[in-house]
Amino acid sequence: MSTIEKDQKIEGLSKRLKYSTRVNHDGVDKMVMASEPFLNNENYTKFLRLQHIFHLSVAPLYQRKELQAFFPGLDELPRLSAVESDLKDLGLDTNMDEALLAKLTDLYQAIGWLYCSEGSNIGAAFLYKETQKLNFDAENGARHLAAHPEGRAPHWRKFVAQLDALSLTEEQEARAVQGAIDAFAFYKKTLAQLAA
Ligand code: HEM
Repeated sequence: MSTIEKDQKIEGLSKRLKYSTRVNHDGVDKMVMASEPFLNNENYTKFLRLQHIFHLSVAPLYQRKELQAFFPGLDELPRLSAVESDLKDLGLDTNMDEALLAKLTDLYQAIGWLYCSEGSNIGAAFLYKETQKLNFDAENGARHLAAHPEGRAPHWRKFVAQLDALSLTEEQEARAVQGAIDAFAFYKKTLAQLAA
């Protein structure tokens, strides 16, 4: 069976997104860990700057009416203000070079970016634990990595169910997958820029 035939057997957009981006995710995971974000406050600051750029880039998507119709409750989810509070907890400003932000317009690609943003909260359980080494927590410095009030898993299951309830054309699904791939690539590119 060719890879394409195998890909076509993956049913449900959430599984398709996960399958199509697993290598991209692992690349980001390795690159983030190699930057040792929890070694000291300086490294953690760089990580917060990275998270800030990512969450500020996706923040407008959470306000888009068409996306709110696809994902009821979407406007309650963005973690931008939590990242900004984390920066302030560390005595940092929230200024940034706007040229670093991603400009997102395509509605269906935006679904892939949202998948990437929301899914990152699942892996954040591990990252949140690591911040405790630096004495940060949900009230100080690591707010954006804290679990959703409903808990990480129920919240993620709800988002996945919303993804799988969308009835997209093949072409629209392909754009969503491309959006998720682009989101991981953007995260990697930004990490490299901040490290330089
Ligand atoms: C060191 C950094 C990271 C680690 C250790 C990590 C780890 C994990 C883990 C353990 C899961 C859960 C897998 C599961 O329960 O099935 C996960 C899921 C996920 N992570 Fe990460 N992650 C990291 C960074 C990121 C970043 C930066 C993003 C996005 C920009 C991201 C996006 C996702 C997505 C979208 C999922 C959901 C996968 C799915 O089930 O469809 N992760 N991550």
